[in-house]
Amino acid sequence: PSKITKIACIGAGYVGGPTMAVIAQQCPHIQVTVVDINEKRIADWNADDLSQLPVYEPGLPEVVAAARGRNLFFSTDVEGAIRDAQMIFMAVNTPTKTFGVGKGMAADLKFVELCARQIAKVATEDKIVVEKSTLPVRTAESIKTILESEGNGLTFRVLSNPEFLAEGTAIEDLYKSDRVLIGGDEDADGQTAIQALVDVYANWIPREKIITTRLWSSELSKLTANAFLAQRISSINAISALCEQTGADVDEVARAIGMDSRIGAKFLKSSVGFGGSCFQKDILNLVYLCHHFNLPQVADYWEQVVMLNDYQKHRFAKRIIDSLFNTVSGKKIAFLGWAFKKDTNDTRESAAIYVADELLHDRAEIHVYDPQVKAEQIYADLEYLQKHRRTNSHSCSEQEPITVDEIRSLVHVHNDAYTAMDNAHAIALLTEWDEFKHYDWAAVYQAMKKPAFVFDGRNILDRKQLTELGFNLHSIGKG
Ligand code: NAD
Ligand code: UDX
Repeated sequence: PSKITKIACIGAGYVGGPTMAVIAQQCPHIQVTVVDINEKRIADWNADDLSQLPVYEPGLPEVVAAARGRNLFFSTDVEGAIRDAQMIFMAVNTPTKTFGVGKGMAADLKFVELCARQIAKVATEDKIVVEKSTLPVRTAESIKTILESEGNGLTFRVLSNPEFLAEGTAIEDLYKSDRVLIGGDEDADGQTAIQALVDVYANWIPREKIITTRLWSSELSKLTANAFLAQRISSINAISALCEQTGADVDEVARAIGMDSRIGAKFLKSSVGFGGSCFQKDILNLVYLCHHFNLPQVADYWEQVVMLNDYQKHRFAKRIIDSLFNTVSGKKIAFLGWAFKKDTNDTRESAAIYVADELLHDRAEIHVYDPQVKAEQIYADLEYLQKHRRTNSHSCSEQEPITVDEIRSLVHVHNDAYTAMDNAHAIALLTEWDEFKHYDWAAVYQAMKKPAFVFDGRNILDRKQLTELGFNLHSIGKG
């Protein structure tokens, strides 16, 4: 069918939820059903209280309120949704493998494969299957093979439609995408399928921003875009280390180079290191692919982006320990922020986890405040790291893991930033939440142990003000 009236999306996470909510809001003539095997997640998407949605994202509650129950549905009935839909998006997670072949590098495609098998099993008519998850190049081929071998002679068209939204600005990004990318087969049926998806997006995205390519180009473009973005951050972070040694200021350097229109100003903010569920995973996946195709030099080039990021997180932790007279044992360190960036409750691969881990190995007492992250998530993040540490990273890989009991006794989570900072030896700012800029820093200074150290991992605090108040302030990339 070229006119789509029923869409299903498998996976109600950070991508499936917001993208489908926006499609439903912008296309009232299309019924959109988002399904997930996680019952709690679906219940939260259906909650009356919109502040309880499983994904914290500015603007999302309004979009959900506009469409939910009208043409947007959240359900655990995966099979029913597949059967009804003409077009099925796969937005399931594709994490780095933690075992077996490709451990620590390759993308784990088991959820994608399961989706394909389930689609093939329950479909009773032809379907368009859209890869929304980020996948290694040529995954569409495997999906097609599964669909065709298990699919009772039905025809399945596979499209690649990678998602470029960033968390914290997802709704804005979906409303005004720089581009929408759709890859598909070059034959007539492939082109018809591409056109069906173009027509969906054309309800709100200008046609000239919807680009269509071959399947493999589309799949590879997603990995490449993330690799380039992450590489800019690692490049400026590499320079931040040099700034600290030389007395140059990394923010001044970034501004000076960013005004060159060939370089551009975005994604040059030096930080404690990039986090999030995508950058590291996707680059490691690219590295793995390069090795697979026997391109070791290309693999090494991209792997350095991740290694430099490990180094940046490690450098930050080390600077805290060095500055606090070479030990943080028994000292109270306040963490402002745990999420991997502001305006999200997502903590996956957040730099805060790695910095905390290094300080815990030195037996620091960590007091965390984050406006959106729940205590159980913080404990779960630290416990997960003890079990699944990348062996080639800079962090405490040779050291004994910290036990669950030690984590529970050394890490304290606060609902109030001031109690987290009260009587602390040092503050480490890990996430650039706006509210941190507007605290009563004079009062914070009074309540802290002296010398009062602040390590600003995001360079958002007012240096002049804090220094004048008496803080011993350490910023990223400032000599
Ligand atoms: P997520 O973990 O938040 O959500 C994935 C959901 O899929 C989970 O709720 C899980 O329960 C569900 N799921 C897994 N297998 C299933 C199955 N067989 N049937 C039904 N539900 C199933 O992940 P995410 O952050 O939304 O990412 C999804 C994909 O999108 C990944 O490939 C990721 O790389 C890509 N991506 C993510 C972002 C981002 O900002 N998070 C941006 C662009 C692309
Ligand atoms: C990223 C891509 O931007 C997005 O296009 C893709 O779809 C998913 O991956 P996301 O990880 O959600 O999005 O957020 P992003 O804004 O890219 O930030 C990633 C990390 O880099 C964060 O930890 C952020 O704090 C850090 N960052 C970003 C910097 O340290 N400096 C910068 O200049 C920009």
